[in-house]
Amino acid sequence: MAIQLDCLVAVLLAMTSPEKNPFIIVAIDGGAASGKSSSSKILAERFNLLHVDTGSFYRHITYELLRLKVPYSDLPALRAALARLEFGTRLNGRSAQMLIGGQPAGDEIRGQNVNEHVSHYAAVPEVRQALLAYQRGQTDVAQQHGFRGLVMEGRDIGSVIFPNAEFRFFLHADPAERAKRRAAEGRQDSITERDRIDSSRKTSPLTCPAGAIDIDSTFLTLEQVVEKMAGLIAAELK
Ligand code: DC
Repeated sequence: MAIQLDCLVAVLLAMTSPEKNPFIIVAIDGGAASGKSSSSKILAERFNLLHVDTGSFYRHITYELLRLKVPYSDLPALRAALARLEFGTRLNGRSAQMLIGGQPAGDEIRGQNVNEHVSHYAAVPEVRQALLAYQRGQTDVAQQHGFRGLVMEGRDIGSVIFPNAEFRFFLHADPAERAKRRAAEGRQDSITERDRIDSSRKTSPLTCPAGAIDIDSTFLTLEQVVEKMAGLIAAELK
């Protein structure tokens, strides 16, 4: 009986030990409509991760700054406005939803006006700096809500936000294929123009960081992309 109890304790300890179940960070970067959101939502479900879409953070800030009539080119006004923004997070299912002044974003952040402006605001170092700690702090949100880790999608996650993430993926796809995907979602988007600005900005440009796993999804289905990523994650976690 004593031996059986010892075994039970050992098994329980192994199950709860941090080495056995480490907090994991999955970073997914890529251009507009490259499949980041769809794949990261599925991975979040499969591995019990908090899903964090940092593009929605930049979109929410852009919407707010446009609403306040603060142009991205007016640095003093931009700095003053950013200093006044209060960020919070609430869960929307498995996804982190950003609150500004206690309010979640509406559907307008996916509209054409934000599409046209978001890359310009995202290129301003002060805007990126304002979001840096908030993005890294999503690990606390994930831990507080009992997630096993987080999957964060964006443009600079594997390069700047979490360069030491356990898994770093970079998705790309032919622009024509990406435009087709957006059209199939019934959404208008300035994909090529946003990519051009996002890739050429000085601060944290969109780029595949050294050591990240580069996946070309042009001829792959969503399921195939997810299987590639999930296979690598599962193999590592075994
Ligand atoms: O992922 P998305 O297309 O919704 O992102 C909207 C814009 O936000 C994108 O054009 C560039 C910016 N962005 C960024 O600069 N860095 C991130 N980590 C995420 C998004």
